[in-house]
Amino acid sequence: MSQGDNKNLDLSYNQGRTLPRRWRSQFPLHWDADDQVSRRELLRFTVLTSGALFGGTSMLAVLDWFGTTGQARTQQVVAANQVPEGSAYYFNYPASDDQAVLLHLPGGQFVAYSQKCTHLSCSVYYKPERQELLCPCHDGVFDPVTGDPVAGPPQRALPRIRIRQENGMIIAEEETA
Ligand code: FES
Repeated sequence: MSQGDNKNLDLSYNQGRTLPRRWRSQFPLHWDADDQVSRRELLRFTVLTSGALFGGTSMLAVLDWFGTTGQARTQQVVAANQVPEGSAYYFNYPASDDQAVLLHLPGGQFVAYSQKCTHLSCSVYYKPERQELLCPCHDGVFDPVTGDPVAGPPQRALPRIRIRQENGMIIAEEETA
């Protein structure tokens, strides 16, 4: 509908009355100033807004990077004698909502992995009777000694958590891909 049509409608609505059109009083736009926003100003506004959004996003990314790399990742997990040989201990590392599993393998070796399956991120669990790490979602199976996938859809090894023992405590130091 063109502006001319609008005028016709408004005229018929007002029927020659001298009262200001109601929509003009309710929406007092300054139509005379409408052409004062040039394409150049609009472009400048768009570029500045985009730049501000880009800068804000970049700053958040940098803060997030420093937040994850700058924090102390060393964490006491459990006393080694609390995890019998052939069993598992579940804990959270490196963040409080990251699930991880510590295994005391037959033979005495300790290993730790992220519990996040490398297929679609379900949690894996240790099955001591089968000596396997199992993912129940799609029957993925991982080798508990190496973390490598041995059956099912997963193609990549579980992220390993580097650990050490100190005064009888298992200490988690770093998660490696
Ligand atoms: S999510 Fe683990 S096998 Fe699919």
